This record gives sequence, C-alpha cells and structure tokens, in this order.
Amino acid sequence: MEKTFLMLKPDAVQRGLIGEIISRFEKRGFKLIGLKMLKLDRATAEAHYREHKGKPFFESTVEYITSSPVVAMVWEGKNIVALARQMMGDTNPAQACPGSIRGSYALDISRNIIHGSDSPESAEREIKLYFREDELMSYSKIGEEWLS
Ligand code: TYD
Ligand code: MG
Repeated sequence: MEKTFLMLKPDAVQRGLIGEIISRFEKRGFKLIGLKMLKLDRATAEAHYREHKGKPFFESTVEYITSSPVVAMVWEGKNIVALARQMMGDTNPAQACPGSIRGSYALDISRNIIHGSDSPESAEREIKLYFREDELMSYSKIGEEWLS
C-alpha cells in the first residue's frame, strides 16, 4: 500500500491544530502507521529541504521548521501521496482552495501548517529520514473493507 510522510509544522502545533488535521486524514480513510513529536535539529531540517538549498527561502524555512516542535507521521492508503497533497492545498495558502488544510488554516507561504511528500520516491526518502523500520506499524483496521 502507498505511504506518505506528513509533518505538522511548528505553527500547526502552536495553534492547536494537531487533532483537527490528523482527524481529516483519519476520516478520509487513511491509516496512521507512524507518529512522533520532535524538535528538528538543523542537519535534519537541511536534509529535509535539500532540494531547496540555495533558494532565497531556504534559510528562513530551515529556521522556522527548527523553531518549535513538529509532529512527524507516516500514513498509508490508496493514492495517498497525491490525495494528501490535494487535501493540503497549494503551497501558498493564499492560493489554496478554501476547503483544503492550508486554505482553511493558513495565510502565508512561510507558515503553511503542513508538509507532505510530493512523490512516492520523496516519501520513501523522507520516511527514512524520520523513522526506523521498527517504528512503522503494520496492522489491519476495522472498516478497511468499506473503503474499496
Ligand atoms: P515546496 O517544496 O516548493 O512546497 P511544498 O511544501 O508544498 O512541497 O517548498 C517547501 C517549503 O518552503 C514550503 O512549504 C514553504 C517554503 N517556501 C517559501 O517560504 N517560499 C517559497 O516561495 C516557496 C516555493 C516555498
Ligand atoms: Mg515540497
């Protein structure tokens, strides 16, 4: 089953949105298989955003993501990479659909609430950056038969 890496950024934690956002993914039918709260160190943040190194927003993005605790998660489900990105909305909350996560809870691109892998390959890399194999759960969940 397809997996993705999602991270609730410092603003989501500070603004009390952890439950709201997790709830959206649970209700959609996705399965949570890994969860931890942590404060990113600089090396992890730079590795996370390595594709953006050298861009004007890189430094401020690393500073923001390391400024306060985050919630790192692995979720599983059919087409989850693309569907999670759709649920998150545009990178810039000002352009995100009103019902999306960023379109519901954020105003500015530099404080956009949530990270989600942009491809299954990114998901694999990002999951490994945050989780050991034995930290990911394999289990069956009541109701799964009603989703396909
Ligand atoms: P990016 O990977 O392009 O967006 P996404 O999070 O939707 O995959 O950029 C990573 C983060 O960098 C983004 O969530 C917010 C920040 N960022 C800016 O602050 N300014 C920008 O112009 C861009 C493109 C991103
Ligand atoms: Mg990205």
